[in-house]
Amino acid sequence: RIMREITGISRLEAQLKAKMGIRKVVVVPGDSDKSPWVKSELGNACAACMKDALREHDIIAVTGGSTMAAVAEMLPADFGEKNLLFVPARGGVGEDVKNQANSVSANMADRTGSRHRVFYVPDQVSSQIYESFTQEPYVNEVLGLIKSASMVLHGIGDAITMAERRNTNEADMEKIVKGKGVAEAFGYYFNEDGEIVHKVQTIGLQLDDLESIQHVYAVAGGFSKAKAIRSYMKQAPASTILITDEGAARNLVQG
Ligand code: BG6
Repeated sequence: RIMREITGISRLEAQLKAKMGIRKVVVVPGDSDKSPWVKSELGNACAACMKDALREHDIIAVTGGSTMAAVAEMLPADFGEKNLLFVPARGGVGEDVKNQANSVSANMADRTGSRHRVFYVPDQVSSQIYESFTQEPYVNEVLGLIKSASMVLHGIGDAITMAERRNTNEADMEKIVKGKGVAEAFGYYFNEDGEIVHKVQTIGLQLDDLESIQHVYAVAGGFSKAKAIRSYMKQAPASTILITDEGAARNLVQG
């Protein structure tokens, strides 16, 4: 605690919280662009925040990404005493298997001895397929669980990095580039003003659903992600808790 004050981290947190108008900002030392272990620190900080908020039988919806994969590694086994259920927040969004929401959610369940449900639905569903899919009993059941989550854990990415990672088709890529997309979260792409420029059409949590979810943790760090974090926070629900690192935070306070 004293260290955090000497190094100015507490002040950074307070400045960012005021600037972004969200519930809380937690900053961990270091820059995850330069040191990969900082992602584990983000994971530790996320676990510490979750601990205070978790209730018996909570449903926790999670997105994919390398940051969320690191969070999964840091969840303590005693979370299992709470009979939690982990679910992916949305259907597949075209990532590497280890970074997919399904894998992250399974991993979180594994680490904590909790239950999880998989949600295998295609990416980019047409509205016709969407309709018939949601009528499938299995899809409907898991969708119901996702929508009743009381906690969401999600990453934030740079728009172009994420679009490339997902092998986005040319037309959508053009939409993101022309719309000057800088941030991505949940399969939504945002410009510098936090406006949606493109959205991956899939089943699961939609951005509007976040408003009614009690605990929302956004975990993202690294100097290079500051632009993306700044953009996304312009429209993030006020209940959001941002867990970031010094690399991103020092960049964020300047802009
Ligand atoms: C994706 C999430 O899986 O990970 C995105 O769906 C997020 O919302 C991204 O932007 C972040 O990835 P990373 O690897 O930078 O943590």
